[in-house]
Amino acid sequence: MALKVAIIGGTGLYENPYLEHPEEMAVETGFGRAFFYRGRYRDREIYYLARHGTGHGLPPHLVNYRANIAAIKQLGISAVIATAAVGSLRQGMPPGSMVVIDQFIDFTKSRPATFFEGGEDGVVHIDLTEPYCPVLRQALLHAGSAIEEKLVDGGCYLCTEGPRFETAAEIKMFAQWGADLVGMTNVPEAVLAREAGLCYATVALVSNFAAGISTAPLSHQEVLAEMARQKSSLDRLLVETALQIGAKRSCSCPAAAGPLK
Ligand code: HPA
Repeated sequence: MALKVAIIGGTGLYENPYLEHPEEMAVETGFGRAFFYRGRYRDREIYYLARHGTGHGLPPHLVNYRANIAAIKQLGISAVIATAAVGSLRQGMPPGSMVVIDQFIDFTKSRPATFFEGGEDGVVHIDLTEPYCPVLRQALLHAGSAIEEKLVDGGCYLCTEGPRFETAAEIKMFAQWGADLVGMTNVPEAVLAREAGLCYATVALVSNFAAGISTAPLSHQEVLAEMARQKSSLDRLLVETALQIGAKRSCSCPAAAGPLK
């Protein structure tokens, strides 16, 4: 049986042209429905989920992160590779940079951030010292080398609530806190993946310098334009990463899980 891998495409990535014979499918979960394209790449079975919907109809704070991750779990998938458009707080990570992030800071405010709401579900406090699967991060980095795509190894992603962009003062504070990149979606997605015992890693694509660092006002159009420039490289990186994933899991992600029904 082919190894199953999920790809979660963020802003600007709504399908993947490398998927052979993609079919649309929906999965019903206790948290709502999730939608995928199921296809193949070589000997991998790939489930592609467009985080914002195929027409970017879902803002970051309204994405049903729980349904998406619960559906991936229900499908029997253990590895999730995600993309994220981000603003950069660092001159050394200019627009166009691809960063395999290794930490996050959570500045979200209103999102359901756990599968475990007490009562029958219990209460779960997972460890997130290392929030992204180290083996999956290496798979991304190896795939980058294999296709000669330069990737930055490590970066701290700060997740805001959105959907607005930040103030210049917020960005200044985030930089002092140690954040390198700012985006709106990696939390609670990474958290829920860990609760579900999935291996999860993200490649962040810098679409702009963040507010106050950029000399011009920010716009969603600017983000989309940079994503469009990098889409084909990212599409290829994602499927090549799927090929790097082994059937045997040697990380501690499965053990970190709570008992997701
Ligand atoms: N801020 C927050 N999210 C983003 C940005 C940004 O500057 N660019 C792309 N996603």
